[in-house]
Amino acid sequence: MIPTRRLGDQQVSAVGMGSMTLTQTLDKDPAQGVQTVHAALDAGITLFDTADSYGPTGEMGVNELALIRALRTRPDALERVVIATKGGHTRGPNATWWVDGSPKHIASAARASLQRLGLEALPLYQLHRPDVRVPFADSLGALRALVDDGIALRVGISNVDHDQLDTAIEILGDRLVSVQNEYSPLERSNEAILRLCEQRGITFLAWGPLGGMRAAKGLGAAAPAFQQAAERRGISVQQMAVAWLLSISDAIIPIPGASRPESIQSSVGAASIELDEREREELAVPPVPTEGEQP
Ligand SMILES: NC(=O)c1ccc[n+]([C@@H]2O[C@H](COP(=O)([O-])OP(=O)(O)OC[C@H]3O[C@@H](n4cnc5c(N)ncnc54)[C@H](OP(=O)(O)O)[C@@H]3O)[C@@H](O)[C@H]2O)c1
Repeated sequence: MIPTRRLGDQQVSAVGMGSMTLTQTLDKDPAQGVQTVHAALDAGITLFDTADSYGPTGEMGVNELALIRALRTRPDALERVVIATKGGHTRGPNATWWVDGSPKHIASAARASLQRLGLEALPLYQLHRPDVRVPFADSLGALRALVDDGIALRVGISNVDHDQLDTAIEILGDRLVSVQNEYSPLERSNEAILRLCEQRGITFLAWGPLGGMRAAKGLGAAAPAFQQAAERRGISVQQMAVAWLLSISDAIIPIPGASRPESIQSSVGAASIELDEREREELAVPPVPTEGEQP
């Protein structure tokens, strides 16, 4: 069975499933999406990440609906899982991405997500991205109100820098349970934020853990040390990446995307792989530059 990790007051599977991939392009087969969600549940996944803005077109809510419909076809699934959704992005003409972190938008987007998902409260609501046109404290105030008004049980932030995380800790207190930033063998610039999360008991949800939707298949060529370590063990380079992420901090939960059952089953398999000393050294995280030092 897959090990668990802490997310606020709850324990969830140490690997979550990124659901964006289920509907991100028009060629995705809805039946295969349902099979993928079922495979994730069968493998013990209890954390699913989505967002109101994920989908192949500018239409909002497509991914949330695909995920909840798949979950609802499995009796008891909703009692076991945490659905982590996000708001703060809108989509424009030709499916372009916009940011709206205004309190008014966050309040209405969260309520729209709650209605689509048909839950009593959102288990985890995340601000997708800070909006440079809105004081960050105002966006955080809207998140705080969601918890205080019972719309969300917990909140998280995403794509934040160190100062923004500091501000969020101050404004949200223990309502804040997660930071969702990019982290993978190819992208390690969020190391200092990961360590701050660790110190403060906040979970770091690693998005794009295999290098992102487009790079995941070519991860071996882009990260040869991971490819070699994987070959020595007879596992895939993607499994090596997930196992490595889990090894660098107890605060990390990788959320690999999947649109095929095989992908999520393989990622769950990685959760029981323990890195040895040689692997830890070879794949070591580069040191965090001290202040004033160039990275
Ligand atoms: N907060 C943000 O701004 C943000 C940004 C991007 C993503 N996200 C979240 O993070 C999640 C993951 O990121 P991502 O989907 O961009 O990138 P990713 O997880 O690095 O890569 C996803 C791709 O990897 C493949 N894959 C997954 N597990 C695999 C395995 N064990 N072996 C081989 N291939 C595997 C999948 O293939 P198949 O599709 O063929 O199954 C999928 O296309 C998203 O789904 C989304 O929920 C958040």
